[in-house]
Amino acid sequence: MCGIVGILGRGPVADQIVDSLKRLEYRGYDSAGVATLEGAHIDRRRAEGKLKNLEAKLGKSPLAGHIGIGHTRWATHGKPTEANAHPHAAEGVAVVHNGIIENFRELRLELEKSGAKFASETDTEVVAHLVSFYLQKGASPVDAVKQALPRLRGAFALAFVFKDHDNLMIGARKGSPLAVGYGDGEMYLGSDAIALAPFTDNISYLEDGDWVVLTRKGAEIHDEQGAVVKRDVMKSGASSFMVDKANYRHFMAKEIHEQPEVVGHTLTRYVDMATERVALPMKLPFDFKDIQRISITACGTASYAGFVAKYWFERFARVPVEVDVASEFRYREAPVRKGDLAIFISQSGETADTLAALRYAKEQGMHTLAVVNVTTSTIARESETVMPTLAGPEIGVASTKAFTCQLMALATLAIAAGKARGELSDADEARLVHGLVKIPRLMTDALTHEAAIEKLARDIAKSKDVLYLGRGTSYPLALEGALKLKEISYIHAEGYAAGELKHGPIALIDETMPVVVIAPYDRVFEKTVSNMQEVAARGGNIILMTDAKGAEEATVDSMVTIVMPDMDAAFTPLVYAIPVQLLAYHTAVVMGTDVDQPRNLAKSVTVE
Ligand code: AGP
Repeated sequence: MCGIVGILGRGPVADQIVDSLKRLEYRGYDSAGVATLEGAHIDRRRAEGKLKNLEAKLGKSPLAGHIGIGHTRWATHGKPTEANAHPHAAEGVAVVHNGIIENFRELRLELEKSGAKFASETDTEVVAHLVSFYLQKGASPVDAVKQALPRLRGAFALAFVFKDHDNLMIGARKGSPLAVGYGDGEMYLGSDAIALAPFTDNISYLEDGDWVVLTRKGAEIHDEQGAVVKRDVMKSGASSFMVDKANYRHFMAKEIHEQPEVVGHTLTRYVDMATERVALPMKLPFDFKDIQRISITACGTASYAGFVAKYWFERFARVPVEVDVASEFRYREAPVRKGDLAIFISQSGETADTLAALRYAKEQGMHTLAVVNVTTSTIARESETVMPTLAGPEIGVASTKAFTCQLMALATLAIAAGKARGELSDADEARLVHGLVKIPRLMTDALTHEAAIEKLARDIAKSKDVLYLGRGTSYPLALEGALKLKEISYIHAEGYAAGELKHGPIALIDETMPVVVIAPYDRVFEKTVSNMQEVAARGGNIILMTDAKGAEEATVDSMVTIVMPDMDAAFTPLVYAIPVQLLAYHTAVVMGTDVDQPRNLAKSVTVE
């Protein structure tokens, strides 16, 4: 994830900005830069690599301005070079950005036609030129940003400074967090409270779609429609430790809301955003063409990520996949083939059963690849290849952002396998990758259903048992939904393949048992509708998670329909995970359980 800092100060700000960026180093980066307004001019210093390189440049050629923006960049569009480092500038404006602008290519072509000259390969520079375009048409900075924002598609956070305006800074948030800091005659913007802790602990968090106009007197926050809104000013706890709950009640809530940003980060690690092709940064010690079978092993939520990936590998790469929970794999003496691939998925990288399974696979001469969130973990260190999920620290015991980052990493690997085995054409790859590029924005859209889900949770909290149904890749998500609910609300829940309903579970159905049906409109939707009719005929209450077409086609009066954004059918688990997670979270809040530390559970099960 990139890091953003902005200071509307009373004295020189460049060194303060660099100090603040140091507090964001945990987010990972490969270049950095600062821009300040000196009199009427915007001046920049940028450097490849670590902040010490930027400090060296500033030491040789200091920046004196009292208003500035700074950035630590994790390369997405374009290599980690000085030319691609933020801040990016165009006539009259400089900007720093965290996230993804999906439609940057079409905007760049339009702007080049109107004379813009680009100096980088980044999507961010498009934002600078777009705002500059409106400035040069006579718009004020506020109006220029107001006109530019609706044209940007993606998940992003932005901070702007403007030539000739030394008492103005503008910020915007859509999918990636951005905090406003309130100082004494100074104002601040930051990716999180940690960045602003040296200056203030009075923080407001922008909500999705918000944009904010800062002067040294204060902040005027607008919502997506432009109306002036109030966002609570709260005391941040960030100065005490590096990971804080931000403005969320629980780490789990924060981590659910971080998903557009961190899944976007995972995406850009494994996809070249300029060409929209898979670009794995690690050299694989095997050729997918030689792999006759893939074994995927994990525990709990991680195993459901593996189960989703099974559908992807088999569909995209036509390679048979076996998924095991690690505690079974390590003892069943699976007849595996030397040279085949064993994938291990683990957030912590320390789960004892998964580690033991990894050691078994290595003894059998299999290639081992670990999809892990902690790259210094034992499973990472003992695996031949590591695919980091880049979700950042996951504190809530119930895994959320790690799960969707695992899915993103596995999706890119399955596409790479399909290409390597000649099962996917360039056009197939482009279509699939383009579907992945939209995911962070679609997750942001999915989060807008939180209020409706919170209301629904009050009914679910009265239940003793809940059934989750799904088909295809929604089946593992049904299993995950049931696990999420039971592990944090302590309400018993079961996930089932919807087609299995008549083979037993239908005996459970009555008016006391909610049935959550995860069913985007796809080629098996009609069959799931029949399942819902069977449930409704027995008085069961249905919660249908679908898309607009599914809502239209569903011919049963479902208790609640959560209409998700239209998307590529292949990747629905990445986005439908959001309502599944939110339902579990809000039900647990109603139940009053310890959401972040549920009873009897540990974040990492390092014993058998
Ligand atoms: C997930 O919500 C659970 N806390 C648990 O099932 C977890 O996924 C499992 O223990 C695996 O942990 P790992 O990903 O760290 O290996």
